[in-house]
Amino acid sequence: MSGHVLITGANRGLGYELLKVFHANNYVVFPLIRNNTALQRIREEFSERCYPIEGDVGLDSCKKNIELTIKKYTNKIDILINNAGIPGVEYQIDKVNTSEVYDLFNIHCLGIIRTVQATLPFLFNSSNPRIINVSSRLGSLSKMASGEFKDRHFSYSYRIAKAAQNMLSICLHNELNSKGIHVSVIHPGRLKTDSGSSDADMEAFEAAELIFKWIQTLNKENSCQYVQPFFKELKW
Ligand SMILES: NC(=O)c1ccc[n+]([C@@H]2O[C@H](COP(=O)([O-])OP(=O)(O)OC[C@H]3O[C@@H](n4cnc5c(N)ncnc54)[C@H](OP(=O)(O)O)[C@@H]3O)[C@@H](O)[C@H]2O)c1
Repeated sequence: MSGHVLITGANRGLGYELLKVFHANNYVVFPLIRNNTALQRIREEFSERCYPIEGDVGLDSCKKNIELTIKKYTNKIDILINNAGIPGVEYQIDKVNTSEVYDLFNIHCLGIIRTVQATLPFLFNSSNPRIINVSSRLGSLSKMASGEFKDRHFSYSYRIAKAAQNMLSICLHNELNSKGIHVSVIHPGRLKTDSGSSDADMEAFEAAELIFKWIQTLNKENSCQYVQPFFKELKW
């Protein structure tokens, strides 16, 4: 059990814990990190089988960096984990500013378009290629429509961006599954990270271990899931 995995936003929070668990399980890891100081820290911490990519998923330039770095070391990526994300702030329509909504849409949704475009040729060289998009329970249209979070102060920008990310993931599944690629979406749990919500109840390393085990069960036959791994299936 090993392979090549690219994880975006891997310098802290859930991404960092995923990096640790994949690396500990002998994977060749490609952490994508936008901050150069953090990138150097990761380079020093993981001296073997770890090839950091400097990149901001909010910018088109990350595509070139992804392609060049992967090409230096391999011709295949088995697993792409789109984890990078930022929280939003404004939860009242009269306060919402469109630049916040744009920023979150850009990172959570367009960022995935960029990383998929850059890694697709390498995914096609894998015998079991998987794309995992780290979404949220807050991306669920069904949950929102049922009023589940009606009285909570979750930002417009985050909910819109994660719902768009879910739709993008379904579009990717519809196009890529017949070509052998698994595409799924996860809600990782309510994690005690810098971006965690007020009802966080799980450590990021616990979620990372579950996500790692769950990813081992995936193949082209069980694509298009929206789940909290080993806990529950979510309604789109
Ligand atoms: N925490 C939760 O309870 C929870 C629940 C549901 C879903 N999620 C989702 O899980 C993912 C990880 O969340 P987290 O709680 O671990 O967040 P976090 O602790 O705030 O870490 C976010 C990571 O994403 C990186 N990042 C942000 N924007 C980026 C960009 N444009 N390009 C590259 N990297 C970028 C950050 O890098 P910097 O250090 O440079 O900022 C950081 O490494 C996110 O997609 C989040 O929406 C989290």
